This record gives sequence, C-alpha cells and structure tokens, in this order.
Amino acid sequence: ENLSGVNILGKPYTFDNTTNVSDSILRLVGRNLYSTPDHPIAITRALVESCFPKPTYNHFTVADPVVTTHENFDVLGFPKDHPGRSRTDTYYINSTHLLRTHTSAHQHAAFQSLVNDEATGFTICADVYRRDSIDKSHFPVFHQMEGARVWDLPVSADSRYEAQLRRKEIIAKDVDEVPQTRIVVEDQATKFLKGSNPTQLEHDAEEVRLVVAHLKRSLEYLVDGVFEASRQMIPASQKEKMGPLQARWIEAYFPFTSPSFELEVLWNGEWLELLGCGVVQQPILNNAGLRNSIGWAWGIGIERIAMLLFGIPDIRLLWSEDKRFLQQFKQGTVTRFEPFSKYPPCYKDIAFWINSSPAAASPIGAESSSGVAAAAGGDATKASPTETQPAAFHENDIMEVVRDVAGSLVEDVQLVDEFVHPRTGRKSLCYRINYRSLERTLTNEEVNDLHNQVAAKMKSLFDIELR
Ligand code: PHE
Repeated sequence: ENLSGVNILGKPYTFDNTTNVSDSILRLVGRNLYSTPDHPIAITRALVESCFPKPTYNHFTVADPVVTTHENFDVLGFPKDHPGRSRTDTYYINSTHLLRTHTSAHQHAAFQSLVNDEATGFTICADVYRRDSIDKSHFPVFHQMEGARVWDLPVSADSRYEAQLRRKEIIAKDVDEVPQTRIVVEDQATKFLKGSNPTQLEHDAEEVRLVVAHLKRSLEYLVDGVFEASRQMIPASQKEKMGPLQARWIEAYFPFTSPSFELEVLWNGEWLELLGCGVVQQPILNNAGLRNSIGWAWGIGIERIAMLLFGIPDIRLLWSEDKRFLQQFKQGTVTRFEPFSKYPPCYKDIAFWINSSPAAASPIGAESSSGVAAAAGGDATKASPTETQPAAFHENDIMEVVRDVAGSLVEDVQLVDEFVHPRTGRKSLCYRINYRSLERTLTNEEVNDLHNQVAAKMKSLFDIELR
C-alpha cells in the first residue's frame, strides 16, 4: 500500500491534508452484508424491497462507497457550512472524495436511470459511513435504504394545465392502490402547505397534497410489513394485549426535500425515529433530466430495524464472522437471535487535561491547511506528506483512536467525568473504555497493551496532557 494514498475496491486515491479515513475503517469496505442472503441485513433489505415491488420500482445496490463531495452534499443542496460536511463527522479520502454518509449520494444517478425507463421508482441499498460514538447501537459503518417515486406529465394532453390535471388524477388513483394498513397513525405534520415546512414555489398545492398522501401511505405499508414480520413471532394472546402498532408523522427538515417528514413508531413504550422523507426538491429532478416529473423520496437505517426484528443486542454482532451468529439466520425468515455465551468485560479509564479548546465542527475547506487533517486518521497520519501538529480535541476523535487500536474489541466508550480546574480554567475529561470481545475472553495483558496504545496515540495526536 502506498504511503501517500490508498486503493479502494481497485481504484487509487491520493491522500491530502483533508484525509481522515483510517485502515480500520477501510478494512470494512466490501463486506457487502446486504447481498449475503442469510444475513439479517440482507433479510431486512428484502423485506423493505418487497413493499416497493417491481416493475414500478427498480432495486439497486451500490458496492463502491467512495463518492464525491458533490454527490454526497452539493447536488443535494447542502449549504457550504452544513455540519454534516465536517471532518469530525465524515470520513474523507481527500478533499474531493469521501465515504458516502447516506444513500442519498446516489439519488441523482438513480433519478437519471428513470429517464426512458419502464420503472417510475427505485430503492437503493448500501453501506454508509459516519464518525460517531462507540456503543451497542453505533458502528462507523451501517446500512441505509433509499426509496423514490416520480410521476411524469402525461404527454398526450393538450396543454400543460390539462396534463397536470390528468397527472393529479393518476396520483390520486395510485394513492388508492397502496394497501391500507391496520396500524394506528397520528399525523402531527399536516400544516405543510403553510408554515415552516413549505410546499415548493413551483409546485401545485393540491398535487403536493396527493404526492404526500402517496408517500405516507407507502411508508405506513412499509412499517406495517416490516413490524408485522416481527410481531408474527409474538404469541396471539400477548399480541391482543399489545393492540395494533402505533406510529406518528412529525415535521422534519432535509436540504433535499420539502416538505419533509419523519415517521416514528411506538416500540416497547418508546417512540423510535424510523425514517426521513419528503417531496423531492425540484432542482434535483430537473438536474437528473426529470424536468416534467414530481416525486417523493425516503431514507431509512437498516441496523435499527434488523436489531429489533431479530433481537440482536449489539450492533457489532452484525459484523461477526462467528458461525454461532451467522448460522442462526435463513433467507426470507425473521427469527429471534439466540445469545451465545458472553465473555467478560474489562473497563479501563483514560483521563486527560485539554490544553486547547475543543475544535468547533469545522466545515470542510474552512481549515483545510491547518494540519489537523489526519489527526484522528490512524495510519493516514503516517501517510500524510506533511508533519502534523497536535490537534484540538473533539469527542469523536477518541472514538476514532479507540477504533483504530482495538477495532471491534470495544463495546463502548463513555465520558464518565468532566471538570474545569477552578484556578487554571483547564478542562479535564475522563473516558471509560469497555473492552470486550464477542468471540473470546481477552487476557489482562492484551487489554493493558491495547489501553497503553490508546493512551500513547491520544498523547501524540492531540493537544492534551494525560493524567
Ligand atoms: N438521507 C437522509 C438521512 O440520512 C434520509 C432521507 C432520504 C431523507 C431521502 C429524505 C429523503 O438522514
């Protein structure tokens, strides 16, 4: 492997001072869990796809996770200072390429594929990458699905006005054809025709109302399909007590849809945020060659659903290559995960003073020459052509260092103490790292060695003083 760059799925990339991707992350690229038929991720994907059937919807997957900043952000209308672009949140290969943070990065190409195609919609399934905390429900790689549907203007009409009237009739008919579910839905997001979640200027209010009706019904059908698959395992007597599934629509904001919504589901007494969606921003359709179309899009995380459906308690299990995990699941069926023996945890604390103030979320470009770039990038640091200065510390940085050193041998990392020295004003943080393997008992020496490496790396990369 080249010191100043990397090969990802056969394509070469050069590092620069924006690089913050590390070997431990790149090793996870190409596992394609979504196309391993007996894997819970693939089973969940199939369940979602079955709610958006062919030939109306094409089903795509995109194996290569490297996209341009243009595809991931610009073409979707992300403002230049959007926090999602920050190097503390996103893995950059270099200043022009990154590991996609959402499947929406492929919306543009997928919309283009609908031009002159029989299908009027699509789903996309892919692995996505985000820098985040370490705990049982967060992993730097996870899976998303994207869905979209468009309606073209009928060509046979005499005028644009006629065509639009006709299209509204067609959408209304399509709304009626989406099966009604028995779930109980409260809609807290009906004011979108005025308010802060507006209909786009070029859209007809009545038509948007119909597109939104189709969107909401389609996603209620999805939720019903997916969660009923799970409730099938619950004994009938208990299910009766539970009553029908409850869901609610709330208003949301995304740069690439308006109006926008989120769907939440009541599960074990808690409201779960399940998916985001909305009416596609018209410039996105126009840019993709669908100037005469109107449509909706949604995006959903797969891990949370898979973990609920299969009763999987730790997200790392989904990446396990242990037969005791993999052999439990079969294509087309949702079964409860049977836990196998858990190995003991081992806690270690790391405490340090912060010398400089925490880095603010820094939009890409804003400090591209500061030398902070590769700070948390593990081996990318070695690869960086320029010597790096100790960087200001951000919470996600310790997560990255721990992942680099210990990979999936860490269950979670928690801030357990934080205080400011009354005289010097210096801040001290203490993080508790919970080392635990899913597959074996870790030895004391092994954990000590890992922990020492974490400490050494923290000290060399950041402007901190270990305590
Ligand atoms: N991409 C969004 C996310 O990751 C989800 C989304 C997709 C919202 C499509 C609206 C439309 O949060």
